[in-house]
Amino acid sequence: MKIKGNRSLSSRLWLDRQVNDPYIKLAQREGYRSRAAFKLMEADDKYHLIENAKCIIDLGAAPGGWSQVLAQRSPADAKIAAIDLLPFHPIEKVRQFCGDFENFQSAVTDYLEQKADLVVSDMAPSTIGHAQTDHLRIMNLAESAYSFAENTLKTGGAFIAKIFQGGKEKSFAEMLKNDFQKVCFFKPKSSRNLSSEIYIVATGFQKCN
Ligand SMILES: C[S@@+](CC[C@H](N)C(=O)[O-])C[C@H]1O[C@@H](n2cnc3c(N)ncnc32)[C@H](O)[C@@H]1O
Repeated sequence: MKIKGNRSLSSRLWLDRQVNDPYIKLAQREGYRSRAAFKLMEADDKYHLIENAKCIIDLGAAPGGWSQVLAQRSPADAKIAAIDLLPFHPIEKVRQFCGDFENFQSAVTDYLEQKADLVVSDMAPSTIGHAQTDHLRIMNLAESAYSFAENTLKTGGAFIAKIFQGGKEKSFAEMLKNDFQKVCFFKPKSSRNLSSEIYIVATGFQKCN
């Protein structure tokens, strides 16, 4: 539907959200590159995953909001490897790898020199607006992110991944329960209510590798 000039209703709603979204304003005021930064802060306030993490992998890191939070909240000598298809402006303490995350497993483990305490994935595929298709696409991505994490996490480590609800997330959580002590879903307040976005948080990796 077209209203007011050439803008569609969905693009007007998007513009309205950009202008009125309190988290976008807060991100601008506090110097974060994305409103997504607040989602990781909320998860960390609840689960305390970053303060002792010396080796961290950030999958789907651009433009760098989560990497900023990881750099701020991790120990001073922590190493952070951030991967994205897109490049972003450098962040102190963060080493960037540009391309598909699946190509960087050995480069990242070489860089970190040991297995990771924390693997986070805020990756999202480009959405097409068809809920079930978008759900299946992000579940595939989250499962691949977990395959990556499975090979790169140390015992006791933690994994966070973004998903869109739609049915398949329950079997994903069940699968993770075989490998972690605790698995739960987390919806940050900063994640838009109308969005099906939710995070799966898995702690206490206990698979021998
Ligand atoms: C929601 S954004 C991440 C926002 C980021 N966490 C932040 O706080 O600024 C999702 C990102 O996932 C990345 N992405 C999607 N598929 C990917 C893949 N196969 N490999 C690496 N990055 C990917 C996209 O390029 C995009 O930048």
